[in-house]
Amino acid sequence: MNQKSQAKKITATLAAALPLALAAGTACAQNGLAGQPEPATQIAQTAPQMAQAAPAAQPAPTGLALAQQQNCMSCHSVNRAFMGPALRDVASKYASKPDAPTYLVHKIMEGSNGVWGTVPMPANTQLSPAQAATLARWILTLK
Ligand code: HEC
Repeated sequence: MNQKSQAKKITATLAAALPLALAAGTACAQNGLAGQPEPATQIAQTAPQMAQAAPAAQPAPTGLALAQQQNCMSCHSVNRAFMGPALRDVASKYASKPDAPTYLVHKIMEGSNGVWGTVPMPANTQLSPAQAATLARWILTLK
């Protein structure tokens, strides 16, 4: 690979890394990353311009906010069973199991029946695997 195309590739990588760098902005600055030589300096210099051009980035919702947004709370509550089990009970049941996050991601996405009673949970097909993982991790913190 010649130097030019390598430089191009680096630029492309930087562009891809920018949103991340923006999100991690303060943390990076505190860790002294922004003061390091290339390529962190380049990101730090470009970031303010990008921030002006792009509309204000909304952080992705997590935990309860994500569960509310994804309709989970129309059948679940943290503390009380109604349509579905209380999420705190789900956490108590699985939190000590090493494969709990994977198991719950699968159940959240595919649906569930026969574990907590006779009412089935339909598949939550609107979720991305990342959203399901975020929800599973949050539920497991509730016990
Ligand atoms: C239409 C109602 C309904 C909605 C919407 C719903 N659930 Fe459920 N959920 C249930 C029911 C009912 C059960 C119990 C199913 C069973 O007994 O296997 C359940 C079970 C679960 C379980 C336990 C599964 C197991 O194997 O023990 C988890 C975790 C869960 N739901 C998370 C979620 C999340 C996260 C969402 C939102 C993306 C969601 N649910 C949306 C009704 C619902």
